[in-house]
Amino acid sequence: MSHLNSSVGSSVDISDDKSRLDVETIHGFLKRSYWAPTRTLETVIKSIENSLCFGAYDKTRQIAFARVVTDKCTFAYLCDVFVDEEYRSRGVSKALMRHILEHSDLQNYPRFLLATRDGHGLYQQFGFKEVEPHRFMGISRDGV
Ligand SMILES: CC(C)(COP(=O)(O)OP(=O)(O)OC[C@H]1O[C@@H](n2cnc3c(N)ncnc32)[C@H](O)[C@@H]1OP(=O)(O)O)[C@@H](O)C(=O)NCCC(=O)NCCS
Repeated sequence: MSHLNSSVGSSVDISDDKSRLDVETIHGFLKRSYWAPTRTLETVIKSIENSLCFGAYDKTRQIAFARVVTDKCTFAYLCDVFVDEEYRSRGVSKALMRHILEHSDLQNYPRFLLATRDGHGLYQQFGFKEVEPHRFMGISRDGV
């Protein structure tokens, strides 16, 4: 995996193969996140079934996750980006972002959105910009 720092090791790879996802690990990631600490395993499974999902793996161990909600033609929403604490600051999220943005189902959409509390510096490296607040509206039921 050329985009990762050498400290991560050449055994790390990124895949959109849902059969490789470790749902218990992903549920654990989200329990430790600021946006979905109470999300149930059942909801995590349903969200995976209905999304394009990406995992990063160190051999068989899942070390990161990201999910894209999309109609695969006009709109995509990136969410649930999480890197295992042991693997942070080694370029894993950047490798994940490159992989996602190069994915054949995610090309040239009018809208590719995400929400973040403090990750602006990560996503700006991949072309995301703050969009006009007066044009986008939302309902926030979780307060995040
Ligand atoms: C944010 C997170 C995904 C970054 O993953 P990572 O693999 O450790 O990050 P990388 O090593 O790929 O580097 C990320 C780059 O973005 C920058 N960055 C900007 N905002 C950041 C943030 N909130 N956290 C970490 N890095 C951030 C880093 O400084 C780094 O910059 P560099 O290219 O100059 O080195 C990871 O810390 C994480 O899972 N955090 C908890 C969950 C979370 O906050 N997810 C994002 C929700 S929007």
